[in-house]
Amino acid sequence: MSSSLRGHRVVVTGASSGIGLATSRRLAREGARLALMARSPDGLAAAARAVADEGSTAVVLPVDVTDRPAVEAAMARAAAELGGIDALVPCAAALAYGAFTDLPAEDFDRCHDVTFRGAVNTIRPALRELERSGGTLVAVVSVASKVGMPLYSPYVAAKFGLRGFLDVLRMELRQQGSPVEVCMVHPGFVGTPFFDHATSADGTRPTPLRPVYRPEDVADAVVACLKHPRRELHVGGSTAVARIATSLARPLSELVRATYGVAGQRRRDRAPAPAPGMLWEPSGDGRADGSVAGRRSLWTAASRLAAAPLDALDTLPGVRDVLRRVR
Ligand SMILES: NC(=O)c1ccc[n+]([C@@H]2O[C@H](COP(=O)([O-])OP(=O)(O)OC[C@H]3O[C@@H](n4cnc5c(N)ncnc54)[C@H](OP(=O)(O)O)[C@@H]3O)[C@@H](O)[C@H]2O)c1
Repeated sequence: MSSSLRGHRVVVTGASSGIGLATSRRLAREGARLALMARSPDGLAAAARAVADEGSTAVVLPVDVTDRPAVEAAMARAAAELGGIDALVPCAAALAYGAFTDLPAEDFDRCHDVTFRGAVNTIRPALRELERSGGTLVAVVSVASKVGMPLYSPYVAAKFGLRGFLDVLRMELRQQGSPVEVCMVHPGFVGTPFFDHATSADGTRPTPLRPVYRPEDVADAVVACLKHPRRELHVGGSTAVARIATSLARPLSELVRATYGVAGQRRRDRAPAPAPGMLWEPSGDGRADGSVAGRRSLWTAASRLAAAPLDALDTLPGVRDVLRRVR
């Protein structure tokens, strides 16, 4: 993949809302041509309009990522309409909020299915196309794939599983001599409609824990991985603090998560959650921002700046192969 994305053919799942929508807009600004997947036809239509406003085009493919045959058909259509696929950004996920002991088993299973199996369902058929184009997979995972968060048990399990799966996939592809790059973007809390749309065990909406970042910062990280592939990119200084605290001072980190982590997710207004919520109904309404707005991550901007010299070298063919092994 070159450092320009002009004309690149990119499939984004979860494109009707939040990070997927912000990423689609950002990719359109870079000149990429897009195929957008999610369940909500209205949300996707709004996303396609946003892409057009940025001067590019999008094919809209309404699909539930847990429906494997439907995803395979949608991916085949994306490849046919775009003339191939250079990149896949699996971003779709759904949140079941509440203590494990309060969550209905069906909600637990559905959250895990959408978030883990839904990503695998999209990656499998896209890989054939990425092999052909020598393309890149950039999955939007989460810092919750490394640091557990109370009241998110099926989501955290799915994200831990997804990170493990992608690590194995990267090694297998490399061993097979595949040209496909496998990257992960790990955001902290982001101010998207995710929390407004979540299915909630106690009927109230959760709120993201501060600091809350902008979906555009995650979109920038996805684009950075597409231009200069690397294993993982974290978004938000809080992700660094959480990872360091959890590896160096686990008891303290667990105490903070079990106290502030639980209380901080309760909204003061006890606003009702939608029923049945995003696990079971289309939720994307073409908005990138949720009711809690995010702020720019200075840590992420500084890390991007620090990576700039290596990114510049990455455009040289010989160096690129070496960097591919170490980044
Ligand atoms: N917000 C955060 O704090 C945060 C932090 C770390 C990681 N992330 C990750 O970022 C990604 C995007 O989340 P977001 O914050 O942008 O949330 P969001 O605004 O709620 O977007 C979720 C997207 O997934 C789609 N989706 C949900 N269930 C689906 C299904 N069964 N089939 C197809 N599409 C489905 C939704 O569209 P439809 O409802 O129309 O299908 C929507 O487009 C997720 O992978 C999430 O885990 C978010």
